[in-house]
Amino acid sequence: MSDFCINTERLTIRKFKTTDWEDLSEILTDESVVYFEPYDVFTVEACKSEAENFSKSDNFFAVVLKDEDKVIGKLYFNDEGNYGTYELGYTFNRSYQGHGYAKESSIALMKYAFENMGARRIVAYADAANERSWKLLEALGMSNEGKMKNYTFKHKDENGEPIWQDMLIYALLK
Ligand SMILES: CC(C)(COP(=O)(O)OP(=O)(O)OC[C@H]1O[C@@H](n2cnc3c(N)ncnc32)[C@H](O)[C@@H]1OP(=O)(O)O)[C@@H](O)C(=O)NCCC(=O)NCCS
Repeated sequence: MSDFCINTERLTIRKFKTTDWEDLSEILTDESVVYFEPYDVFTVEACKSEAENFSKSDNFFAVVLKDEDKVIGKLYFNDEGNYGTYELGYTFNRSYQGHGYAKESSIALMKYAFENMGARRIVAYADAANERSWKLLEALGMSNEGKMKNYTFKHKDENGEPIWQDMLIYALLK
């Protein structure tokens, strides 16, 4: 897995390196980027250890923009241990969103997983309020398999009450 590398027209998808922390910090210290993520905004210091964690993990991949040799996003791809089911996740630098990079990298990773990793079913979860996320999943050709109502919460309203999130389930079969 350490020599894992997928090339697309504009991108390289590879394992993280510890030296990616600076590019990673542009992503993880941005409150608007992590708003729908299951974690809070990172400090720059925490990004250094996260880059190290990612470099040792088989579940996180750096998306590198070839032209700039810059990590512009991360993909999460986790074997759910369930008959070839993998979960896809994605987080991109705000300055590089809207250029089709999330789509290009996700398609390449899913194709690789179907062909080389024994993937049979790829699932993804998106907050119904996270339109960019579920639009991406639809652009990837994934099917909506349902909605888990009031599934979880991350933020609270001004009265301290949970803002419950409806979670959409998407999947694509091989
Ligand atoms: C979710 C997220 C990855 C989507 O990123 P994105 O930039 O919208 O996705 P893409 O880069 O694939 O861009 C697709 C859009 O770019 C446009 N685009 C521009 N150039 C393009 C190109 N060359 N090829 C394809 N699409 C292109 C598309 O038209 C599309 O816009 P549309 O959906 O309005 O039609 C991004 O918003 C993000 O990182 N959010 C924060 C983290 C997050 O919420 N993650 C999900 C938690 S569940």
